[in-house]
Amino acid sequence: MKPAAFLTTPVYYVNDVPHIGHSYCTLATDTLARYERLRLGEENVFFLTGTDENSQKTVDAAAKAGIDTATYLEDMATKWQNCWDTIGISYNDFIRTTQQRHIDTVHELFQKIYDKGDIYKGTYKGLYCTGCETFKKTLDLSEDGRCLDHPNQDIKKLDETNYFFRLSAYQEPLLKWFEDNPDWLQPRSRTNEIVSFLKSGLEDVSVSRETAEFGISLPMDPSHKVYVWFDALINYYSATRTEGREDFWQSAYHIIGKDITRFHCVIWPAMLMSAGIELPKGVFAHGFFTVNGTKMSKSLGNVISPVALSEQYGNDALRAGLLSSFEFGNDGDFSADNFAEFYRTKLAGGVGNLFNRVTVLITKFCDGQVTDPEHCQLGQEMKDKFDDLMEKKQLKGAYDFYFATVDAANQRLNETEVWKLVKVDADAAAKIFTELYGYLWFLTDMAEVLLPESAPKMRAMVGENGKVGAAEIMFNSGRE
Ligand code: MSP
Repeated sequence: MKPAAFLTTPVYYVNDVPHIGHSYCTLATDTLARYERLRLGEENVFFLTGTDENSQKTVDAAAKAGIDTATYLEDMATKWQNCWDTIGISYNDFIRTTQQRHIDTVHELFQKIYDKGDIYKGTYKGLYCTGCETFKKTLDLSEDGRCLDHPNQDIKKLDETNYFFRLSAYQEPLLKWFEDNPDWLQPRSRTNEIVSFLKSGLEDVSVSRETAEFGISLPMDPSHKVYVWFDALINYYSATRTEGREDFWQSAYHIIGKDITRFHCVIWPAMLMSAGIELPKGVFAHGFFTVNGTKMSKSLGNVISPVALSEQYGNDALRAGLLSSFEFGNDGDFSADNFAEFYRTKLAGGVGNLFNRVTVLITKFCDGQVTDPEHCQLGQEMKDKFDDLMEKKQLKGAYDFYFATVDAANQRLNETEVWKLVKVDADAAAKIFTELYGYLWFLTDMAEVLLPESAPKMRAMVGENGKVGAAEIMFNSGRE
């Protein structure tokens, strides 16, 4: 098998436009995809994102907006795609769960699972939260019977005929899977959570809705719609059912938020086992962040738009600010004050200043040409360190390393006072210029992954064969 990477984000609900929580997951996946492209070559990387549209939430949101569902979906899918384009997401494909290619794959898998004997008809009596699109138990709810995540929505009482998926039959196979593949779900702490959940016993799950107004009809019973999660999970597989894409399935790796780990690490692998399809190579479930210590919510009015942040500070600031503020995998917090400070010190004062100073000095004192450019490469150790951090998906670690390298270069510049040295010892100064040029070179390479919007500007400054280009202003704080 040719080394390849297939990276996915969740398909997002379109009842609203993206907020920075969604963009956190998408930006993290984008960063991993950019790294893989450098490592494996463009054509060997497939980065998928998209929208989850067959949800009652969508129907409700369309009705509220007073437009028909199909028009609403079209409009919202375009908004999500535009948002990702605006903030510089390098996705290769955008899947919508209302597309025919997905509907066909859902039918195919549903039929396979049915034929295997893992889907049967029964009655579902119980509670359902449309906000989560999840079946609930009384103990999942607050004392007054409301969903903890969607307290403003009424919990529905369902009593209907449903088709059920025999999830209980997969308890042992799943436990064995986690035992044999202890690194499949990252970070490790999440594996522990899932394993104890599996050990507590699995119940069969309802996978169709008789009363749903919208969705994909069951192949064997069109009066039922496929349960939205059963349908949505299949999107990852649907996207590989295009000519030339099939082999990517073997390299599938899902990046998700911790809120949807059970769907991805219990139901999804069980569905695949039942359908006789290879499981994805892994799953990474990142944490959630609050804004100024508070959960983001429309009613609190603290929802931050990634597009607004990007317009103010630029795309690199948005991604670097989010991904460097807490460990990928942990929970964290985002505050506008910290973000502005980060922008001022790390980007404008750190990266921008370094590139500008070094380029200006080399232009002024060496006619724009450093000597021995072939010796300007920083040691292999530095590259190995970056690779190691990226391979372990330590995105904050990678950014910290980047800014530490910037600081080290700025410090070299200050301590050597090369602009004075050049007047007394030209040879010694030439060596320092070569060394500083080496820093810029290395920082430009890493920027392809970490600061991709600025990378072309950096590349132009670094020039070729030690001949620098014109100094450019990056991270212009006037945007603040
Ligand atoms: N449609 C489902 C996913 C189906 S995947 C087969 C869904 N969509 S969602 O629109 O609600 O997006 C959920 C994802 O958004 C989370 O898993 C997480 O990645 C991201 N986040 C939403 N809010 C977030 C934060 N406050 N912090 C970090 N990530 C957040 O669930």
